[in-house]
Amino acid sequence: MDIEEFFGEQFHQWRERFRYYEMAITELESDLGIIDLDWQTRLGYSPIEHVKTRMKTLPSIIRKMNQKGLPLEVEALWDNISDVAGVRIVTSFRDDIYAILDHLKKRDDLEIDEIKDYIQHPKPSGYRSLHLIVRTKVYLAERVIWVPAEIQIRTLAMDFWAATEHKLHYKYQHVVPEASKLELIEAAKMADALDTQMGRIREQILKK
Ligand code: GTP
Ligand code: MG
Repeated sequence: MDIEEFFGEQFHQWRERFRYYEMAITELESDLGIIDLDWQTRLGYSPIEHVKTRMKTLPSIIRKMNQKGLPLEVEALWDNISDVAGVRIVTSFRDDIYAILDHLKKRDDLEIDEIKDYIQHPKPSGYRSLHLIVRTKVYLAERVIWVPAEIQIRTLAMDFWAATEHKLHYKYQHVVPEASKLELIEAAKMADALDTQMGRIREQILKK
């Protein structure tokens, strides 16, 4: 189907909003690249292992808006769907996640609207991660806009679990056998134990 035809008269509005989300991703990626470099330069160590970004696809946006019973309008998207622009920051250690959070809280080009700590409170699936619902400042040629985005911060171990669990769900078309669900929860605990152990080893080495 042709997107221009699908959105009709609203096409230009939608395209403009999509560009805003893309700008927010560019902005966040660049800001994080800069603090990563600054941390590397000053401390010889950065809590950022790597950063990944993604834009939610249009079919996935439409599905989510339908699920939430929202009218297919740009304002409804802007006000209610916070994860169109997505940034994932992956760290080596669990403590690094909170170091990054502390930094982000101090920035005046970022407003944190909500913090969802799925590390203190893992999801029933076993999923662990720190989620931030934010608005990021973007300078346009003639005005400033604050663009909604979702930042997920997690360790390599949490990321490994989440990526693999996601693939398994896809393979099983989301109908994972009960026994496998229990094993996945166990696997998430093992990833968590690995984070605890790596953190402990780091402490030991730093004390030396
Ligand atoms: P959504 O409607 O899916 O956005 O849920 P929500 O608004 O409650 O947001 P939530 O904080 O649950 O974050 C959703 C995002 O977190 C998903 O898009 C995934 O990236 C990730 N996520 C949440 N739960 C799981 C899980 O059990 N497994 C995996 N692999 N990822 C998860
Ligand atoms: Mg979400």
